[in-house]
Amino acid sequence: MSKKILSALFGAALAALALSPVAMAEPQELAEMHVEMDGCEACHADGEPSADGAYEFEQCQSCHGTLDEMDAVHQPHEGNLMCADCHAPHDMNVGDKPTCDSCHDDGRTPESILK
Ligand code: HEC
Ligand code: HEC
Ligand code: HEC
Ligand code: HEC
Repeated sequence: MSKKILSALFGAALAALALSPVAMAEPQELAEMHVEMDGCEACHADGEPSADGAYEFEQCQSCHGTLDEMDAVHQPHEGNLMCADCHAPHDMNVGDKPTCDSCHDDGRTPESILK
């Protein structure tokens, strides 16, 4: 195939990518997605973060349920962790899956626990 055809194909592929809805969907911050539903007050009292994160943790649980009520990745952390220890709302995007190796060094993954 000639270089010209190759580059034309490449250009067409790029154009298709630019037009596709998948390429147009920007990653959205987890907090921002919640703000669209209920504002900063969805998680923060008067929109101001608490010093210890306890108020925010209560809000997560009031909509999503407790760790105990969730799947086998969540259950063992009841009484040990808050949601934001794994799902940092301002540092992660919708669809991001938290990892385990920041706290456990035996190679466990969400998949190895849920299998
Ligand atoms: C989904 C719940 C949620 C929503 C909605 C949310 N936040 Fe937060 N925010 C948190 C949590 C939890 C923390 C604690 C720090 C962390 O783990 O990210 C935090 C921390 C903060 C901090 C401390 C600095 C930082 O980034 O750690 C500020 C400031 C803040 N939020 C402002 C806001 C503002 C302003 C809004 C609305 C535009 C908002 N937040 C919406 C959950 C939320
Ligand atoms: C130990 C880290 C950890 C903690 C703590 C944690 N999560 Fe998760 N969460 C995960 C992982 C990993 C997944 C993806 C695998 C799964 O579904 O369990 C997930 C999935 C989710 C999902 C589904 C997202 C999707 O992909 O559809 C929601 C909603 C969620 N968590 C909410 C919470 C809430 C609310 C809390 C606090 C009550 C919490 N999580 C605490 C690690 C954690
Ligand atoms: C006002 C109710 C409400 C509060 C408060 C709330 N959430 Fe959510 N959250 C939702 C809804 C609704 C969705 C979208 C449907 C779903 O995935 O369950 C969602 C989605 C999520 C998801 C899945 C995002 C994805 O990847 O698809 C995570 C993770 C999550 N929330 C974590 C949290 C955490 C952590 C907190 C507290 C800091 C929190 N939520 C507070 C209602 C809430
Ligand atoms: C922020 C730190 C942190 C993260 C991240 C974390 N864990 Fe944990 N995990 C803990 C703590 C604390 C305990 C309770 C004390 C203990 O038993 O080590 C625990 C206990 C557990 C237990 C029960 C005891 C054991 O060691 O078998 C399982 C299972 C578990 N975690 C799975 C996971 C999985 C899967 C992930 C990744 C999705 C994960 N954890 C991410 C802190 C964390």
